[in-house]
Amino acid sequence: MAAVISLDGVRDKNVMQLKKLNTVLFPVHYNEKYYTDAIASADFTKLAYFSDICVGSIACRLEKNGVMSVYIMTLGVLAPYRGLGIGTKLLKHVLDLSEKKNNISKIYLHVQTNNEDAIAFYKKFGFEIVDTIHNYYANISPPDCYVLSKEVHAKK
Ligand SMILES: CC(C)(COP(=O)(O)OP(=O)(O)OC[C@H]1O[C@@H](n2cnc3c(N)ncnc32)[C@H](O)[C@@H]1OP(=O)(O)O)[C@@H](O)C(=O)NCCC(=O)NCCS
Repeated sequence: MAAVISLDGVRDKNVMQLKKLNTVLFPVHYNEKYYTDAIASADFTKLAYFSDICVGSIACRLEKNGVMSVYIMTLGVLAPYRGLGIGTKLLKHVLDLSEKKNNISKIYLHVQTNNEDAIAFYKKFGFEIVDTIHNYYANISPPDCYVLSKEVHAKK
């Protein structure tokens, strides 16, 4: 039987899953605000399950600066489960949801300049490098990041 990939929301009750994933996936420590923002984004933050195992996540923050933007704080899949379409499913979920709302103008994120896999992955979905920020990260090398951004056009 083929393994089933499913998405579930993040709530107080299962936020520990997201915390555990982040410790393995990212060299950055995320503070409480990250988790509050993730839960507040409601359907924009999801855990991915491979059968019954939690193997990935996308965590977003909704920003209002006149227009609404979706900021992808993290997107990651545990290494043994990569290449199975889980990252695509998570990102497509956020792209589709953003298009369904009629008030979101863009989706953007930061990515370390040497993370070629992730940059290629996002470009495949229409993201473009719009900026480079030097010394964005305090404790990892290289400390520089690209800003990747994609305009959202509402689909009703
Ligand atoms: C970027 C990332 C989320 C992609 O997740 P994924 O589940 O492997 O994504 P998919 O299975 O949907 O594959 C997407 C693409 O990744 C590439 N890929 C395929 N197999 C792969 C593997 N075993 N390992 C890594 N990348 C692979 C392919 O280009 C694939 O595109 P294709 O389906 O057209 O061939 C994942 O590599 C990851 O977690 N990286 C570490 C964390 C990170 O850097 N996140 C981004 C910054 S926030």
